Amino acid sequence: MKADKPKTIAMTLDGRSSVFVLGPLAGLELARFVPHPPPVYIIDEQVARKHPDWLEQIQEGCDHFEHCTLVLPGGEKIKSLAQLETIYRWLADCNVSRDGTIVGIGGGTILDLVGMAAATWKRGVNFVALPTTLLAMVDAALGGKTAINTAGLKNPVGVFHPASGILADCGFLSTLSLGAWRDGMAEMIKTALIGDPRLFAHLHHSREQLAALLSSGDAAQPVPGILGSLPWSEWIGQAAYVKADVVNRDFREQGPRRALNLGHTLGHVVEAWSHETDAPLTHGAAVSIGMAVVFRIAAERGTCPLPTAVQVIELLEACGLPISYACPPPEKLDKLLASDKKASAQAGVRWVLPRKVGLMDLEGRVSAAEIRKWLD
Ligand code: GLY
Repeated sequence: MKADKPKTIAMTLDGRSSVFVLGPLAGLELARFVPHPPPVYIIDEQVARKHPDWLEQIQEGCDHFEHCTLVLPGGEKIKSLAQLETIYRWLADCNVSRDGTIVGIGGGTILDLVGMAAATWKRGVNFVALPTTLLAMVDAALGGKTAINTAGLKNPVGVFHPASGILADCGFLSTLSLGAWRDGMAEMIKTALIGDPRLFAHLHHSREQLAALLSSGDAAQPVPGILGSLPWSEWIGQAAYVKADVVNRDFREQGPRRALNLGHTLGHVVEAWSHETDAPLTHGAAVSIGMAVVFRIAAERGTCPLPTAVQVIELLEACGLPISYACPPPEKLDKLLASDKKASAQAGVRWVLPRKVGLMDLEGRVSAAEIRKWLD
């Protein structure tokens, strides 16, 4: 991919157009997705602090009037009913009408929350997403899932409301922390595993360079030189293509989209369990553990080649991601699994189990004994 030419992937989700634009100046395409300017902006505070000039250019490229901008902290805690109400009050102050546009700029948590506000304000207004983390570029911003956390559960309340434009500008990644790179790699590896054997092979082939950049260091600090040292834009484009293809075929998650939950069934269990300790896992770390465990289980059962499982674990470790975790006590494990929001009353918990790279069994069953054996 040429550095100066944005790559575009078009989707039709619920009959509506949703376009992913990837490139160094993707933010300048904003006006295309705002039929009635000016839009209002909700921006992650770290992004606002680290990229003020670039944000100003993006906003000026879209409209020349005074911008209505709300700056919010990122992080999982922000996905709350209280924050949603704060946004609604602000949208009322800004007089956002039914034909208005809300632009969310930040990582997956901000975009989940802002998307939820856009989906429900005036029964749904235009939403444009500028993902600023790797995880949001390859996963969270695409496909129209929005959500907040409530009742002690992750994402139980949400609406499908695709962004009309998803503008992914790798420049924002220059200030991404090591921890956020690792989280993004977990979702990129997942996406390669479900739908792009060539991308997986490329990532695995690059594992020594990935390890040099990601396997150690302070998770809160940026990773100097990372953007220039590997073909990030190409990889993000390939992962986004897989995700776009899946959600285009199955927007409401009746079938193929469930493959995107690879590693997430157990991932959500360990993530929720870890939040009861003083060392909470990030979402990417939890998904990494979940993927490592299902590959081990499938390899032991002989339903997935052992060398594939070995490669997956090698790659996760190279990216500094965890591959095991202390198993919750039996009754806690059962409770957490039962609260999986993707479990159906009839079918129970259906696991995504790998058969090979690019082929997943979407109706897998896993016993508590297998989890205990392979999680610890
Ligand atoms: N992040 C999983 C999905 O979009 O379905």
